[in-house]
Amino acid sequence: MELTKEQEKMLNGDKGEVVGKLMRLLVRLGEIYKADRMIEVGSVQVAGVSYKSLKDPGLEFLEDLASKGAKVKILTTLNPAGMDMENWKEIGFPEDFAKKQIRIMDAFAKMGIVTSATCTPYLAGNLPRFGEHIAWSESSAVSFANSVIGAKTNREGGPSALAAAICGFTPNYGLHLDENRKPSVLVEVDADLEFNSDFGALGYYLGKEVKNKIPYFRGIKSANTDQLKALGAAMAASGAVALYHAEGLTPETHLMKTKGLEKIEMGKKEIKEAYDKLNSGKDPDIVILGCPHASLREIITVADKVRGKKLRKPLWVCTSRVMKDAANRMGLTKTIEKAGGKIVADTCMVVSPIERMGFRTTGVNSGKAGNYLPGFCKQEVVFRNIDDLLER
Ligand code: F3S
Repeated sequence: MELTKEQEKMLNGDKGEVVGKLMRLLVRLGEIYKADRMIEVGSVQVAGVSYKSLKDPGLEFLEDLASKGAKVKILTTLNPAGMDMENWKEIGFPEDFAKKQIRIMDAFAKMGIVTSATCTPYLAGNLPRFGEHIAWSESSAVSFANSVIGAKTNREGGPSALAAAICGFTPNYGLHLDENRKPSVLVEVDADLEFNSDFGALGYYLGKEVKNKIPYFRGIKSANTDQLKALGAAMAASGAVALYHAEGLTPETHLMKTKGLEKIEMGKKEIKEAYDKLNSGKDPDIVILGCPHASLREIITVADKVRGKKLRKPLWVCTSRVMKDAANRMGLTKTIEKAGGKIVADTCMVVSPIERMGFRTTGVNSGKAGNYLPGFCKQEVVFRNIDDLLER
């Protein structure tokens, strides 16, 4: 792997012990994947933020790194934490958990990382441009950046993303290379996709079918960015799909050839099957929306649907702090609260300790959340469209 003189110096420890160590990690990664060189990245997004997944070893690793003076060189933002960083007490997050989570966020902040705590960084100040190389970790954000924006990123692990943030580059391999961004399977969709949950169900089913491949969708008549994020998130969760193309909807399709590709047909039957598979529970203790984190449009939709009603079940709408602040200003938070719901920022149903908070069955409209809740949070899942969930 070819390194510049500057990079050689970093590798040899001339720029400090931490930079040397992280540079070794990047070089090793580059060697494994046969990268020819390092490429500069425009931004980084770090996953592995919740104390639920990091636990004490992760917390100590981050505090150690921060105490040794590690500093990021480029715009770096964080994935959701394990709790709402401002309202954790009133929402009921456990105090022992909160103390550790606060230490984690402090360590990240000390390194110069923006503690925005969201899986939709592109809606909260970290928006790459078409074709830009970035190093992001969160699988749904990786899918959105690659597919909907046309930026270029592999799915980084927590340490490799941190290394990219502190060193400023990443090895040139995988989805950074145009030849690896071509579709490997053609998916013909013959179904009316109405709700975001329909896109989540499609993604969940297809991810399991295609595992790691790059699908090219034909036949999705229309989709807004929320629906594309729901589709990508579910595929990333069930099949580690980091890039997809959708004819007429995503920006790289005109560069792609589909002739001769393996073909899969997806219709109503498959979507119904996905709904059936994702449903393991009957009566939710709580409904949690916002996976990936809710956009303003999604928050407005929830507020419109619950205005003047009294919800029978607790409701959380998970989103970023930036969206919550806008929702506060627009009176949407109050509307949702009057109905009995809450806008919960900085966290989500999967990375927060909901299983410790007395919830056993969770209602969701996200294929990704439906995929992870049974394993990560010991939840039974009620997977439905938003209208159905808010009627419960
Ligand atoms: Fe985001 Fe949590 Fe879903 S991190 S994509 S809301 S599982």
